[in-house]
Amino acid sequence: MDVLADVRQGLIKSKVLKGLRIGMALHVEAKTGVLALTLQEAGAKVRLTSCNPLSTDDSVAVALNERYKLDTRAKKWQSNKEYYESLHRVLDIKPQITIDDGGDLIFLLHTERRELLDEVIGANEETTTGIIRLRAMHAEGALKFPVMAVNNASMKYLFDNRYGTGQSTMDGILNATNLLVAGRAFVVAGYGWCGRGIAMRARGMGARVVVTEIDPTRAVEAHLDGFEVAPMAEAVKKANFIVTATGCRDIITAEHIANMKDGCVMANSGHFDNEISKDALKKASKTVKRVREFVDEYALGDGRKLYLLAEGRLVNLAAGQGHPVEIMDMSFAIQALCAGHLAKNGRRMKPGVYDVPRELDGMVAKLALSSHGIEIDSLSKRQKEYLTSWREGT
Ligand code: ADE
Repeated sequence: MDVLADVRQGLIKSKVLKGLRIGMALHVEAKTGVLALTLQEAGAKVRLTSCNPLSTDDSVAVALNERYKLDTRAKKWQSNKEYYESLHRVLDIKPQITIDDGGDLIFLLHTERRELLDEVIGANEETTTGIIRLRAMHAEGALKFPVMAVNNASMKYLFDNRYGTGQSTMDGILNATNLLVAGRAFVVAGYGWCGRGIAMRARGMGARVVVTEIDPTRAVEAHLDGFEVAPMAEAVKKANFIVTATGCRDIITAEHIANMKDGCVMANSGHFDNEISKDALKKASKTVKRVREFVDEYALGDGRKLYLLAEGRLVNLAAGQGHPVEIMDMSFAIQALCAGHLAKNGRRMKPGVYDVPRELDGMVAKLALSSHGIEIDSLSKRQKEYLTSWREGT
């Protein structure tokens, strides 16, 4: 992770994180380990847990604790109770900075652990779902400290959400099922950055991709990008695969299950496991059986069999390995820079959700180019003048 390594040198040199307590709830896998170690090497006291009960790579959690002495509590297939206990354990260090993916640490700080609010300088949030949650909190005047919207940095969402989710979602589905994608009807729910990436990669593998949307502009975009666009109630009738990536609940409900094609494989790449209704699936089924490590078979009364991957949790992390390292290098460089930004400026920032400063975004872009060995052109003096003048037409 060349980009993050460069940022680490800057943080070590500046000593801004020295002695700060940082609580982290991110998907515990190898790339996250590198971010946590970066912050630790920059002098912070770090405690890490996962932001999802199914996304931990156990070998990484063990290595972080035993080999790197990084205080980590996370394991795959955690119960909800264990998940929340681990989040509380992170908060027990009285973090001055929190780093969330989905907003759970911030949520707990504002509900069950309010006594810790005064300690907090600020927080980083990694994902779209978390930002939506935090903006809702702020709109009600409930948010008590500044939060950096890491997700909204160009060097994050343009690549992580699109190419990262696109590739890692296919990785998760293929790892879980080993089924053929080519020639199959592949429904993608939601045409945000994640949905765009998944649709693009599924098409690349030869699938016939159908997009479902509620936003007219995005639906037009999907149509002009060459995808079929249809309501979910129609799309399910022919779907071999359905992947949800909307960030909203109840995308697949009893109504859809009633008309779903036999053998349909369902997976979710949105942050929470509420996009595909497990309750509706259970209700409609005579039996539920685990047929492969990440595949549950729901046998319906009418003889159809439907398949749900990774219990409807993030398929790219539960059954896949998360985003590729080159992608997380950029996302986590933004995370580390934002932690430094909060350490320097957070005490002077009012509660709110903040965009990542453009210069940090630009810095990561330059470092990423250099890590990929890519050179680009720069404007001549004459071109700069041209771009800032209004008198010169041709
Ligand atoms: N690895 C660590 N965090 C991740 C995320 N939010 N999505 C995919 N892979 C990750």
